[in-house]
Amino acid sequence: MLEIVESYVRQKVLDPVTKALTFDDLTLIPMYSEKGPKEVETQTILTRENDEKSSVILNIPIASAAMDTVTEENLAIALALEGGIGILHKNLSVKEQASQVAAVKRWMSAMISDPICAKSDWTVGKAKGTMERRKISGLPVVNDQRILVGIVTRRDIVSCSDSDQLVSSVMTKEVIYASKGIDVKEAQEIMLEHRIEKLPVIEPLGSELKLAGMFTAVDIQKRAENPKAALDEEKRLLVGAAVGDRWLEQKERVKALVKAGVDVIAVDTAHGDTANMKDMLSNLNQRYPHLPIIAGNVTTSEATLHLIEWGADAVKVGQGPSAICTTRVIAGIGIPQMTAIMECVGVSGDTPIIADGGITHSGEITKAIGAGANAVMLGTLLAGTNEAPGELIFHQGKRFKIYRGMGSIGAMKEGSSDRYRQEGESDEKKMVAEGVEGRVSYRGPLADHVYQLIGGLRAGMGYCGCKDVNELKEKAYFRIISGAALRESHPHDIEITEQAPNYPG
Ligand code: XMP
Repeated sequence: MLEIVESYVRQKVLDPVTKALTFDDLTLIPMYSEKGPKEVETQTILTRENDEKSSVILNIPIASAAMDTVTEENLAIALALEGGIGILHKNLSVKEQASQVAAVKRWMSAMISDPICAKSDWTVGKAKGTMERRKISGLPVVNDQRILVGIVTRRDIVSCSDSDQLVSSVMTKEVIYASKGIDVKEAQEIMLEHRIEKLPVIEPLGSELKLAGMFTAVDIQKRAENPKAALDEEKRLLVGAAVGDRWLEQKERVKALVKAGVDVIAVDTAHGDTANMKDMLSNLNQRYPHLPIIAGNVTTSEATLHLIEWGADAVKVGQGPSAICTTRVIAGIGIPQMTAIMECVGVSGDTPIIADGGITHSGEITKAIGAGANAVMLGTLLAGTNEAPGELIFHQGKRFKIYRGMGSIGAMKEGSSDRYRQEGESDEKKMVAEGVEGRVSYRGPLADHVYQLIGGLRAGMGYCGCKDVNELKEKAYFRIISGAALRESHPHDIEITEQAPNYPG
């Protein structure tokens, strides 16, 4: 009798002896070390390469969550400048999400290959409006064949009182330009010599000069100021964007994002191991063979193998670990995050795993990578930064920002219900929430906060004797700890009087 019962339990409960574990159950084991925190490398591969696709490479292993209280244009720019990548959420309209991709891509570049131009028959008012809207200080002036005929800058326009005057009457006609093929250093020298801030690049078309791009002094300065930035081949900031998992409903969104220059698409759903995902990945790979794709979320080795077989270039792991998630208690499903990461990494081969959710301290970034992930995705930890969407809130003398799950009623009403397979439901009473809405402590500028997070990762890598992310993935080992040991890990028997920047008490 007992044997029959035991065998039934073994069928129902996989591996009943070993508990599934999360971050607080485990600690990394310190090891012989030859590198200090400052000497370790934090570069990582976000998506795999294959014959058709190149890898997306980050300088720090952090992606931001595709959530409407976390990632819009400002945070995506700030995170890419630190070496990570922002994944723009999909509660934005197609037009808005694509325009935010374009804004990140335009923020900085070696040479702008398709500069925004004016026509000589535009009015000064129109040129001024374009400059203001696009936040730029000058426009090359071209004709219909993109032949360069002048350049108009904010300075030319400020001194012009009549906004109906034509651009042709205020633009500089003797343009200083360079020929295609010039490098950044040469461009900088020409700009310095002539004291100009914009240098159009041309290629000859018969006897005329066809505009082929433009260098700007601002871009060159931005690059010098942001040496860690995560960049594409044209030295533009990297950016990703989330889409849903139904091809027919998402194809226009994908098209617009690709046109805007997105570097990676994240097919974002709470349950990635589905027929919809299979169809989505097949369509994406057929129609956009060069586009890197992150797919998720999953938490089992079977699901990881499915996503890889269906064409994912990275697999995102996490079902229910986040601070705002209620999936585990509402639906009763999910796998504790460290076990989930290890089970997925165990079968993923050279396809990167992105550990998504549940990270509240920098040490958990080290643990997630030690478990084998290539990168982490952060929501809670970034939602309180200046650059996250939303205003500061003051409550009982402290500063906060709003953070909500994409499965909260508020977010689902604005479009994310498809992430939880409740698309088409507009009656809020019929929505079944899998997330909550709340506030998180204000964290200040993203750059300072990410510095602390990466500082923690670097320290952990130093303790584990690992010189880079790959070594941490391969060489790190853990021990399971008790509840008493966890209490010992946090500050105890002290009333904290000075808050540490990386340990909000
Ligand atoms: P953290 O822990 O960094 O996690 O805040 C961010 C990740 O949480 C997921 N997410 C949700 N999961 N209900 C869930 O079960 C939700 O409402 C929800 N919203 C976001 C998502 O994977 C994100 O990257």
